Amino acid sequence: MDTILILDFGGQTCQLIGRRLREVGIFSEIAPHDAPLNSARLKNVKGIILSGSPYSVYEDGAPHVDLQLFTLGIPILGICYGFQLMTHLCGGRVESLSVKEYGRVPLTLQTGNPLFDGVPSGFNSWMSHGDSIAALAPGFEITAVSDNHPAAAWNPEKRIWGIQFHPETSHNEFGTQILANFGRICNAAQDWTLDKVLELESHKIRERVGKKDVLLLISGGVDSTVAGAMLLKILDPAQVHLMYIDTGLMRKYESEEVAGILRQLGAKHLHLIQAEKRFLSALEGLSDPEAKRKAIGDTFIRVQEEEVSKLQLNDYFLAQGTLYTDLIESGKGVGKKAQVIKSHHNVGTPLVEAKRAAGLIVEPLEMLYKDEVRALGEKLGVGEAVVWRHPFPGPGLGIRILGEVTREKCDILRDADWIYINELKKRGLYREIWQAFSVLLPVRSVGVTGDARDYGFVLALRAVVSKDGMSADVYPFPMKDLLEISSLITNQVRAVGRVTYDISSKPPSTIEWE
Ligand code: XMP
Repeated sequence: MDTILILDFGGQTCQLIGRRLREVGIFSEIAPHDAPLNSARLKNVKGIILSGSPYSVYEDGAPHVDLQLFTLGIPILGICYGFQLMTHLCGGRVESLSVKEYGRVPLTLQTGNPLFDGVPSGFNSWMSHGDSIAALAPGFEITAVSDNHPAAAWNPEKRIWGIQFHPETSHNEFGTQILANFGRICNAAQDWTLDKVLELESHKIRERVGKKDVLLLISGGVDSTVAGAMLLKILDPAQVHLMYIDTGLMRKYESEEVAGILRQLGAKHLHLIQAEKRFLSALEGLSDPEAKRKAIGDTFIRVQEEEVSKLQLNDYFLAQGTLYTDLIESGKGVGKKAQVIKSHHNVGTPLVEAKRAAGLIVEPLEMLYKDEVRALGEKLGVGEAVVWRHPFPGPGLGIRILGEVTREKCDILRDADWIYINELKKRGLYREIWQAFSVLLPVRSVGVTGDARDYGFVLALRAVVSKDGMSADVYPFPMKDLLEISSLITNQVRAVGRVTYDISSKPPSTIEWE
């Protein structure tokens, strides 16, 4: 299908360029800046975008491209560093600015240009650059200026465009329009839809898997559940084995809900493993966070290996709910330069590693961004409760009960958290928040119930807004909501005597407490 290829020079917003293009129905792929531009790579490529970068073009180690790129006859758009690099390589001059231009910058268009169709002659751009174009490369003409600098240029003959600003960011007015205009200049079809994804992945997976079995480990989160729904839709459900390990550290009704959805979607082999006792006994006596994480991780691997071998599947494929961003972030051949932000948490298990080495992994969501996965989940009938669920760490409640974990504490935390989360949903706040949860502290404090003094647990509520979990701000609750939620919890969960709200951002704190 028609593709816009985005060459990644390590810019923070490189992925956003792809997102924006897909929003207007144009398929895009991100590749490392030094990906070989052979005919296989360029097969469906209608246009090429050069991304931004933290580098300056003259710096040691600055990422470059093969000059051949400018002779392919494919329209090119350079964004920020991309613009500077093309200027530098094509014979212009780039200079360091004494003051970095950062943030909202008003621009004036100088000429009508197809890149700016439908864009008013003055608009606010978003800039983030320390270098600027001092002299355009031969054949280029200025198309927009800021107060101080050339902000955009083009070479009409070679069909190359350069812009100093970042149309992919939401602060840049008419940014999506400008990227869509580039798509039209390239004649790229706007035919990227979820139906198309289903069609493409169906072909690919059916061809690879044939009649073999596929095993998917379901965590209860949105990615693995939607991956399960997709496999059930595109393969014969008799081929699809879904395994869900209930560690006893799950949220209230979580296991039942996920199992119910998968059954509804036609799962024939749903292996629900009750492993609560094993996890709780592995956690007995442990209060050090790292020791707890290790105990949970090791138990998970053991239970998984035992249970998978009981299934006696031969030569089967292992499916993974890997997203496009996971591939980019882990640098597996997509945009190697992108900052590695996939957390340290998702270590591959021996099973995953063995299957990967044997070439027996299928990743039905590998082309999709998170919001596309959510939309696909809704389309496939995975209910709203799972599709919009906040992220949940692998070790589950095990790292939200500080100190030693017991069944009793799990139940207390489950009950309190259930009230908290349901209230957020009722109040229409749940989707505004990236992640909200409760933490049970290993301290008790004095309270009065009736005439008696009581020692109840202290519960901390956490709610943060974030884009990717790498940094997070505290959700600024209206005080009324906090007061009401706190009293609902202390009234209904007897063991909780006091509720606090965690007002720490990340950094310096982490989102989870352990
Ligand atoms: P922190 O606490 O490091 O969390 O700020 C960032 C994001 O990662 C999630 N998290 C985990 N996810 N396994 C996971 O799959 C883990 O061990 C783990 N620990 C933290 C956390 O919930 C937040 O979304």
